[in-house]
Formats: sequence, C-alpha cells, structure tokens
Amino acid sequence: MTIGAASEPDPEPTPTLAPTVLPDSIDPEADGAYDFVVVANRLPVDADVAEDGSPTWKRAPGGLVTALAPIMRANDGAWVGWPGKPDVTLEPFDADGMHLVPVDLSEQDVELYYEGFSNGTLWPLLHDAVVDPVFHRAWWNAYVRVNRRFAKEAAKVAAKEATVWIQDYQLLLVPTMLRALRPDLRIGFFLHIPFPPPEIFAQLPWRKQILDGLLGADLIGTQRTSDAGNIQRSVRRLTEWTTRGQVVTIGSRWTRPERHVRIAAFPISIDTTGITEVAQRPEVIERAKEIRRDLGDPDTVLLGVDRLDYTKGIRHRLKAFGELLHDGRLVVPEVTLVQVASPSRENVDSYKQLRDEVEVTVGRINGDHGSLGRAAIHYMHHSYPLEEMVALYLAADVMLVTALRDGMNLVAKEYVAARVDLDGVLVLSEFAGAADELAQALIINPHDIDGMKRAITEAIDMRPKERRRRMRSLRRRVVDNDVQQWAKNFLGTLNAGPSRTSHV
Ligand code: G6P
Repeated sequence: MTIGAASEPDPEPTPTLAPTVLPDSIDPEADGAYDFVVVANRLPVDADVAEDGSPTWKRAPGGLVTALAPIMRANDGAWVGWPGKPDVTLEPFDADGMHLVPVDLSEQDVELYYEGFSNGTLWPLLHDAVVDPVFHRAWWNAYVRVNRRFAKEAAKVAAKEATVWIQDYQLLLVPTMLRALRPDLRIGFFLHIPFPPPEIFAQLPWRKQILDGLLGADLIGTQRTSDAGNIQRSVRRLTEWTTRGQVVTIGSRWTRPERHVRIAAFPISIDTTGITEVAQRPEVIERAKEIRRDLGDPDTVLLGVDRLDYTKGIRHRLKAFGELLHDGRLVVPEVTLVQVASPSRENVDSYKQLRDEVEVTVGRINGDHGSLGRAAIHYMHHSYPLEEMVALYLAADVMLVTALRDGMNLVAKEYVAARVDLDGVLVLSEFAGAADELAQALIINPHDIDGMKRAITEAIDMRPKERRRRMRSLRRRVVDNDVQQWAKNFLGTLNAGPSRTSHV
C-alpha cells in the first residue's frame, strides 16, 4: 500500500457525511424542466470551443449514449457531465435531441478528483486492488467537492419527480447529495466497474461515507451478481442499515420514513444491431481482407483490443504469447498478434509505468521473434473509429480478452456481435463480467500462464464446425441482451417502485 508522502499537506479538514449532503442554495420550489436526467463524469459528446467562443461538439462513440439517446429524445432528457477538458467553460446546449449540461472542472479538479481519487484510489481499489490504491485526504476532499457540484447541477435541471440516472464510480456520493437537495426524485445508480469483497473495500478510509453516498439511490445496478453481493456485504459490515435479500432498509434522522434501496445485477451490453450492420458493409468486409494482406496473409491473426489499463491483463497476454513463440509452438510469420492499446489516463503514474512495461515487452518479443517486414506483434497505441475496429474483429481468428478484473468488457461482446459469419474464437478471462453470459468462449484464468497458452493453441486449432457452434451460441446471448434492453430493464425496475409517477 502506498501511504501519502509525509510532506503532503492536508489542506482542509476531512468532510463527514452530514455536511457533505446538507442542501445549500437550491430553491426546492424551482424545479427544472427535464423528466429524465443522466449524470455521468463525461458528456456523451466531445465538446470544444470554436475560435469565436461558440461550442462545437461531436457525439462521442459509445454504447451508453446509443442506448440512452432515444430515451432522452422521447422523454425530455438532459445529460449532466464534464466536457473532458480542464478549464473549458460551456453554457448548457442542445445537441442531437439532448440537453447537455456541462460541469466545468479546473485543472486542479482534474488532478485531484479525476486522476487522483477516481483513478488513483477508487479504480484500483474496486478492481480488487490489482495495483495498490493510493489514499490522499486532499484527493478525497476534491472528490466530495466535485460530486457536490454534479449533484447541484442535476438538482437544477430535473423536473418535479423526474427520474435521474447516475453513472459509475466517479460519482458515488451523488445519490445521497442529490436526494438531500431533491427528495422528490427517483434516483438510479449504475456501477460500470466491479465492487470488491468487503475485506478489500474496508481499506478505504472513507468507506462509510462512500456507502452512505451510494445508498441515496432507489436502485443500484451492478454488472455481476457477485458485485451486488459484495456491496450488500459491505453495507452489512460497515453501516448500521439492515439488509434482506436484494434490499437495504434505510431509516435515519435524515430520511423518514424508512426507505428501501434495491441492489441487483443488470449486465450491460452493446449496440448489437449497430455493430452487426457495420460488419455487413461491403467496404468493412473488404477492409478486413486488406488488413490480413497488410499483415502478410498469416495463417492465424490473434487480436487484443484494450484501453491501456493494468486491469486488462495485457502483460500476462504478452507473456503467454512470448512463451508460445519461445517454445516453438507458434511460429512467426504463420501467426501474428495485433494489439490495439488505446491511450488512457496518461497522467496517472501506474498508467505511465504500464505503458513502459508493455512497450519494452513488445520490443523484446519482436526483437527475438520478428524478421524484416514480419513482426510477431503489431502494436498500436491509438484509438480507432468503429468501422476500423469492426474490420479488425472480422480479420481476427482469435480474440484475446485476458482481464485480471473487468466490470463487463464490451470488447468481448463487440467481437461476438461483429462475427456475423459465425467464425472466430473468443478467449475470455473468467474475471471479466462478460464471462457470466459468454460461457461458450474459451474461459481462462489469466494468472495461469500455462492455462492461457493451452487455450490459445486450442483456439488456433479449433475445427470450423466447433467454432461455428460456439459462436452461434455466443451471438444469441449478445443479440438477446443488447444495450437498449439493458437500459429498459434498469429503468423498468427503477420506475416499478410504488410511490412516484414514472416519466420514463
Ligand atoms: C471505464 C469506466 C468509465 C470511463 C471509461 C474511460 O469504462 O467505467 O466510467 O469513462 O473507462 O475512462 P476515462 O477515464 O477516459 O473516462
């Protein structure tokens, strides 16, 4: 565990929950205009400011916005989020049928709240502490401050008795802060990343405040049943509230009468129809063939696609591949690995270190096993548009998803959705949420390097009939539960409660 440097100042006293949630400066009579409000760290657009000062934007790629945009258009929807750049001040604006409410973050907010508490403390802690979480009081104070700002913006735009859906670990305090400001709202929260067992979560100095913050929601959704169970166990162990089945009962001097919070799994998915459509476009199919030609027409193309994140098990994957080449069980140029590692959180130390390690390893493997014009690994530190990703999926015989911990892993589902030809083999870590649904993949433990090597060779050698059988069954799962269905299930459950009127 990394302990805050002794010289680190602790500038403000650590807030406790009560002052955290106390309403300030919202007029309870002044309801906003929007019946459905999404609150997420990021806006669903890449926003910028043109030279004349006017906002410019383009829709950011992603399943979440694809699922929610039609619901927003049909229900007077607003989306509260950060435009993704520090010190960018934008007025609320309408785009793509949605009302977008930018929350400005200063450079210091980005450093302390986003890179610090969100991605230096919570991200590693909630991923089973696969790297050491760092605990700094100044980060926590900024997290409280910024969460309060998101809660206030949501409180301002939500209509009376509106439905508000808060997303992910950057905003764990917003449910209770928002409820304190606007008790009339129906509040849902979805955690996109895992939740660890209480033995790990209990390390967090602010564990109680985080749980109390989260329990302001009426419904808390998780990716896996085990994540929901872990939250329940932490609530039992670390708070005074009682739990029964999926339900936590809250009764306190702040919230009377008793309130019930349901915690349940709603595995997220992808825009299956959209990806299937792209995969059938002649130019994408042609591009897939071109990619294979550019790679030198190998017998087998292996593919990894990840944000460059230590939770994704990229080093373990490279180790297994390097050993297979070393053992002579795989030979270049008959086999090649394409690794797309999209840049992520590049100011956070553990990400810088990972990048160095991955790039040294790729260089070493290529140095040992490549030859002129024939690399063992084609490594790309870029993001690509969806069409290019789908062409890569179609070009790959074997997809390697080897996460050490992952809420869901949408790449696994995208690969399956793209394989309309029923070909291709998915090797999938049991520690990715997707493994609960995609049982017909070759399921591996990424820590077991020999096991991963066996699965890779089994995938390469798998007979076409078996590949089709497995892919057909995988596709059924991804077609039956797409991201639209996921949003419908969550919002249906959220709005099924007794008291308030449902708008969504
Ligand atoms: C994960 C998180 C998201 C996050 C995304 C990209 O999927 O669950 O909340 O937006 O990574 O990370 P970034 O830090 O760039 O937003």
